[in-house]
Amino acid sequence: MVKRLQIKNLEFKFQLENILFRHCRFEDIAQVMHVNRVTLPENYSRYTFLSLLRTYPDLFIVAVDENKDQIVGYIMNKIDTGYSFFDKSSAIIKKGHVFSIGVLPGYRKRGIATGLLGLAFNYMFKRSVSEIFLEVRVSNIPAIKLYEKFGMKKVDTIPYYYADGETAYVMAVKTTDVYDIAKKIATYLIKTDKFNESIEEIK
Ligand code: ACO
Ligand code: ZN
Repeated sequence: MVKRLQIKNLEFKFQLENILFRHCRFEDIAQVMHVNRVTLPENYSRYTFLSLLRTYPDLFIVAVDENKDQIVGYIMNKIDTGYSFFDKSSAIIKKGHVFSIGVLPGYRKRGIATGLLGLAFNYMFKRSVSEIFLEVRVSNIPAIKLYEKFGMKKVDTIPYYYADGETAYVMAVKTTDVYDIAKKIATYLIKTDKFNESIEEIK
């Protein structure tokens, strides 16, 4: 069944039967790496996945097909500092950096990436970031459309950003401009029991 969430003239659609969101655990990394390899040409080392999980466990979230006990989507994020994308005269600010997001092909267009981003944004808010940004291939229309629904705007381009020479857009949003959207999405997932909050204790 498709559930619709109306926020600021935007419609968010969810068809999340048997899908659960939760924080990533160390034993999930092999499956997360599999999803990354199937969905993106940017394949990071095991060390990169592990160190992001170790450093930002609250910002690493997975979507699980509960019937198969299989990870079908992930988002991992980090915290950076730098100048504002919107106010060039600002001091150095804290920014949330969406490092990588992917959903297995058979699970797309059901709202899984929307859920992952909504939850991740909320955990970045808790770390008091002023802006959230990411890089995306200029040809990646599905991802660009998704980010635009979260109020993200193209603020820069980086030629030859990707190994094959493709240009990246930098997309960014001020926390204040996306707060309501992400909050409502996260609240919806929590209310419908689609999100299990526990963060694994770091040894
Ligand atoms: N065409 C156009 N818009 C799309 C498409 C598409 N094929 N897929 C998603 N969108 C946009 C739409 O606006 C959609 O809203 P709508 O359904 O109301 O039209 C919105 O995104 C939300 O879609 P979801 O169902 O939440 O997205 P999904 O779970 O399908 O995942 C994703 C989207 C992550 C881009 C997926 O297609 C994917 O894994 N692609 C390959 C990996 C990738 O490109 N990752 C992003 C790289 S950039 C980075 O990681 C920082
Ligand atoms: Zn990046």
